[in-house]
Amino acid sequence: MAKDNTSSAVLLNAVDRNTVVWWALLLASAALAATLSPWGGLFWLAALAGDDVLFWVFGRSWLFDSELRVRRNYQWIHNMYDGTAGSGRDLGFNLVTDAGLSQRAKYEHMARKLGLRKGMAVCDVGCGYGDWLKYCRDELGCEAVGINLTPEQADYARREYGLEVHTANWKDILVSPDLQARLFGRFDAVTFMDTVEHYVSMEDRDDLEKQRRIYEDMCLLAARLLDERSPSRRVFLSCLHQTRRPRDWKFYWHAYFMDKMYSGHYPFVDEGPLAACRRWFGVVSVEDKTEDYRLTGVRDRRHFQAVSFRLTPRKLAYAALLLLLDPHVLHRVLYYLNDSWMFFYGEDPYSPVYDQDYRKTVSWVLLYWITLELTPGPAPRAAASSASGLREAAS
Ligand SMILES: C[S@@+](CC[C@H](N)C(=O)[O-])C[C@H]1O[C@@H](n2cnc3c(N)ncnc32)[C@H](O)[C@@H]1O
Repeated sequence: MAKDNTSSAVLLNAVDRNTVVWWALLLASAALAATLSPWGGLFWLAALAGDDVLFWVFGRSWLFDSELRVRRNYQWIHNMYDGTAGSGRDLGFNLVTDAGLSQRAKYEHMARKLGLRKGMAVCDVGCGYGDWLKYCRDELGCEAVGINLTPEQADYARREYGLEVHTANWKDILVSPDLQARLFGRFDAVTFMDTVEHYVSMEDRDDLEKQRRIYEDMCLLAARLLDERSPSRRVFLSCLHQTRRPRDWKFYWHAYFMDKMYSGHYPFVDEGPLAACRRWFGVVSVEDKTEDYRLTGVRDRRHFQAVSFRLTPRKLAYAALLLLLDPHVLHRVLYYLNDSWMFFYGEDPYSPVYDQDYRKTVSWVLLYWITLELTPGPAPRAAASSASGLREAAS
């Protein structure tokens, strides 16, 4: 039987800023219901709807911090989904091989692309539960270090795998002399696996300049993590990108729920890291793995894309308690009922057939694997102007 993640988890990790705003809305609703009219009890709903309207019209939420939703989302996955770690599929996706879905084939492919050898050091940014790092350490004999925003996942990787994982938003490394001293110049390879989609907020979907600064910060971080003398000096990125297929109202409907669930923005391929990283890196290869990503969800219903999960009393209790901590629990339920994730693959999203050419023509998203290599010689040491206020303490 699949392991219930809640048994090893801190069920409700943290009250955040969004929680405090949520409590204020609930209290105001109760006060209005008691003093004015029973309809006042729906004040929270009106406030959420009003904030959404402002968000879509002016591109900014007055009430909530969208970056906090990323962490909340992964806490939800940790507590609600079964066997997210160590299952051979974890939080990314598998390659489709003749023998079926294979995480090993994916890791072997990445190791080849990065030219990893025994004794080398790998840093995985947004490392999830650390399965890739465990592979690097145990199977390749590499030193393996992770950086992850989500405490439940970082704790798991430390506790179960004994890995060195820093619980941090990578953006904070750029302003942390302590983390810089520990991490900069230490690695032969850096990986970003299905995490980049969270780095730009939906609020900044039209702010190309801010997006460019965030991706440049990310590339600068990768460049600074690398040891310039390493024979690899490579970065491997796995990232969903938007296509320019025309949109209709359904697209925006599903995008709304996707953002409330996962929070983030998919870059266009010519505006994302591939473009931003060219200041520091040459492009080794770009590979389309959309069908592998989609079919991981189609063939394995424990995977987060088209997940069906087993409800237990603990999970129900968690969801009920979360109603008091997180304003977006109802959005999660609607996201599942809509099956929003699969919608973005366009027509026939559950097709069992691997057809890369067809998918390219119908999908609103494409998953690219991008391999980059640090350009030798003097490279820019800092982004022109940093979105996250870069101050490089280690020179
Ligand atoms: C879809 S999961 C992928 C996990 C893992 N890389 C894999 O492929 O299985 C995205 C991961 O990125 C992490 N993440 C998102 N934004 C982050 C940030 N700004 N800094 C560090 N980690 C981040 C999340 O906590 C989560 O572990």
